[in-house]
Amino acid sequence: MATTLNIGLFGFGCVGQGLWDVLHRTKGLQTEITRICVKDRNKLRPLGAGMFTFEQNDILEDPKVDVVVELIDDADAAFTIVKSALLNGKAVVTANKKMVASNFAELLELQQATGRPVLYEASSCGSIPIIRNLEEYYDNDMLDGVQGIVNGTTNYILTKLTETTASYDDVLREAQQLGFAESDPTLDVEGYDAAFKTLIMGAHAFGTVLRPGDVIRRGITAVSSFDAVTAKAHGHTIKLLSQSRIRDGHLTSYVLPAFVPYQDPLATVRNEYNAVLLHGAFSDAQFFVGKGAGGHPTASAVLSDLAALRYAYKYEYKKIEQGTAPSLTTRVPVRAYVRSHSADVVSSVPFSDVEVEYKSGANHYVIGTTLLESLYRSEAFADKRTFIATL
Ligand SMILES: NC(=O)c1ccc[n+]([C@@H]2O[C@H](COP(=O)([O-])OP(=O)(O)OC[C@H]3O[C@@H](n4cnc5c(N)ncnc54)[C@H](OP(=O)(O)O)[C@@H]3O)[C@@H](O)[C@H]2O)c1
Repeated sequence: MATTLNIGLFGFGCVGQGLWDVLHRTKGLQTEITRICVKDRNKLRPLGAGMFTFEQNDILEDPKVDVVVELIDDADAAFTIVKSALLNGKAVVTANKKMVASNFAELLELQQATGRPVLYEASSCGSIPIIRNLEEYYDNDMLDGVQGIVNGTTNYILTKLTETTASYDDVLREAQQLGFAESDPTLDVEGYDAAFKTLIMGAHAFGTVLRPGDVIRRGITAVSSFDAVTAKAHGHTIKLLSQSRIRDGHLTSYVLPAFVPYQDPLATVRNEYNAVLLHGAFSDAQFFVGKGAGGHPTASAVLSDLAALRYAYKYEYKKIEQGTAPSLTTRVPVRAYVRSHSADVVSSVPFSDVEVEYKSGANHYVIGTTLLESLYRSEAFADKRTFIATL
């Protein structure tokens, strides 16, 4: 690679502009953004028009470009760009979790076929250095659990909901006004974004390559002040947790709201912050916390990937290559809180053990133990107004 790392940048929104800033304030790393490809021809730009192009091939076919940094908000277009960049001999750095998670197996094949790396530290938990740690540091350790608060929008909403008397709708509106939630927040509040990150982290932690639909997922849209008060009464707060665990040689991966005891480190992670709690057979528990989103924090992870390219770093996917990755199972017991307006909906969950049963006019709930698979297949899981949390 030449002395200066020549970057072709796709996208100049929140993260793209953050990266521009970060690179111009980082002295050690010799980089140059040669061109920026964006979409909207009518948008006002903070840089001269000469920096921008609307033609992807101006970057993809430019022999001077060493690395394509993909920071656009369209996963399908992003995959086309990344594929073409690799086939044109360029390294790729991306922050796009949906693109990486939706095309994980294809990205592995493309990296093998072209010999060019795709790095995506920024795709999972923004500034927290988790992917390279899972890939390298824990290579020889027996990790058996990766838990995390991996979505800042939902953590912001749940923090406000559990610490104030505001309703879900009020808090969502406030999060949108502050820029923590998109105008269409579906990917965040329904848990899709967290499921993409769960898939990516799981592949690097355990070597199991899943498809997004394999990760059981439910979001926070049904949460109410009643749930917040109930959680508090039991000494818990509510978090949307990404959970991947190894039990009896099998992997269980899901994204579900959870009642988290106040003394758990994850309960202390508030507002838009993210955290990952790793558990290893020998290392025991280790806790990472940091900003999971925002222009500069996310760009810091992109910067770290660019620095890694300097020493020809690529993910070796050793845990995948070994061919001994645990297979997925949903036949594991979970303790769950299921609250609904309808007692019938609650009783659609086949609890093997009921610890608490509560019935009032508007709210019915059970806390008990069931199989994850049975919970997933229940009428309660399919009902959008029912709130489900693991304990
Ligand atoms: N924002 C965060 O905190 C954060 C954190 C972690 C990861 N990420 C990921 O980082 C990526 C970028 O997010 P963002 O928040 O920076 O998005 P954003 O602010 O919405 O900006 C998106 C940019 O992509 C450009 N774009 C969209 N489609 C394009 C196409 N087909 N060709 C060229 N350019 C295209 C847009 O062009 P125009 O300017 O012309 O509209 C815009 O500059 C996403 O994958 C996101 O999931 C974001």
